[in-house]
Amino acid sequence: MPPRVTVVGTGHLGASHAACVAELGFEVLGVDNDETLIGGLSHAEPTFYEPGLGQLLRRGLDSGRLSFTTSYQRAADFGDVHFICVGTPPCTGSYRADLSYLNACIDSLAPLLRRRCLVVGKSTVPVGTAAQCAQRLAQLAPAGQDAELAWNPEFLREGCAVPDTLHPDRIVAGVASARAEAMLREIYARPLADGTPFLVTDFATAELVKVAANAFLATKISFINAMAEVCDAAQADVTVLAAALGHDARIGSAGLRPGLGFGGGCLPKDIRAFMARASDLGAGQSLAFLREVDAINGRCRSRTVDLARELVGGSFGGHRVGVLGAAFKPGSDDIRDSPALDVATAVQRLGAQVTLYDPEAMDNARRNCPDLKYADSMMEAARDADVVLLLTEWQEFRDADPEIMAKVVAQRAVVDGRNALDPARWRAAGWRYRALGRN
Ligand code: UGA
Repeated sequence: MPPRVTVVGTGHLGASHAACVAELGFEVLGVDNDETLIGGLSHAEPTFYEPGLGQLLRRGLDSGRLSFTTSYQRAADFGDVHFICVGTPPCTGSYRADLSYLNACIDSLAPLLRRRCLVVGKSTVPVGTAAQCAQRLAQLAPAGQDAELAWNPEFLREGCAVPDTLHPDRIVAGVASARAEAMLREIYARPLADGTPFLVTDFATAELVKVAANAFLATKISFINAMAEVCDAAQADVTVLAAALGHDARIGSAGLRPGLGFGGGCLPKDIRAFMARASDLGAGQSLAFLREVDAINGRCRSRTVDLARELVGGSFGGHRVGVLGAAFKPGSDDIRDSPALDVATAVQRLGAQVTLYDPEAMDNARRNCPDLKYADSMMEAARDADVVLLLTEWQEFRDADPEIMAKVVAQRAVVDGRNALDPARWRAAGWRYRALGRN
């Protein structure tokens, strides 16, 4: 009998994991306390935007392999492998990761585990957490040694969650026994057959791989954005610089797109939590550079506001600003720590009347920033604007026709916060075009 799988915590990561593991052929039960979330997923309607996930959920539900519940008891009775996918947001008032959801999850599940099973952590955690979870599991599970822990970090990107989960670029298995490794190999048999590298390690290394990867990605983005600052000082062009660097195979062009910098629910909070954890371990100095990575990233936002202010003549007072984008990146409706929304609210605070449009993140943006004005389309956001800010590079914005947009704006002025437009084309249509690192 193939192992039966539960996925505890059905947010972005958990819902994608549950649907994908069902797609791999396993029986999967998704578990969450949030009835709205479970209600939506049970009808193949996730409460968040993720391309392809709705269809995959539908296939899983129709096949009978995928179902959802709010009952931990059902999960404990059902599962041979329990994946833990709960969130680890920042603590209020500190950089540390809030582990209360993870601890609550172990405390609810463990006392119900009466038979042989593997509990697999996927959440992003401070190094040392897995060892504590293992201890807690041993104390609480009636199954004793038969309820074992493994740590298997997840590397999926929002907007690419389905392909990233079905075809991961590596699988990291933090295990304490051959049995745990064998179980994980069985679950991931299909990607392993496709040649996905499988790295077996201890808990601490597995936990660190995840935060180190995100720290590296953040550093790469801030590196190119620091180069943009230097390009501005030297009157050079950072997009050409980035393209030229990217041809060096040791550097690579992925994750080297200059612009407004990184946001979202992962990179910003993960580098901060990593610094806090390293500091607790006495290794704070080793990650001191991440403070600079974070500072450069913050400056991308304030410098974008400055570019826009320059274009309206030095002060936002009485000016209309059309903002294109609210999500932290295209392909997502996530506005957590979104650079776009941060810039939009800063500009409004400085006296502008902001009108914003995003193809997917409108509801979330409205809920979080009710004081901004919202338009139903890109052209409506641009209507009568003294300056247009492109802050999330949705394809629809990339494809915008400068001749057509010129007809609705008050002034032809654009800030390309994501280097998504062709400056020559916009300038030819009479626009004043600005982007960080290209002036
Ligand atoms: C990130 C990692 O890429 C995933 O591997 C990881 O699993 C995930 O965090 C997580 O920890 O859960 P994600 O936050 O979905 O994934 O987004 P990315 O695609 O990495 O983009 C992050 C931010 O960096 C976005 O705001 C994006 O606009 C920005 N970015 C990305 C750039 O400014 N330049 C680039 O070249 C790439």
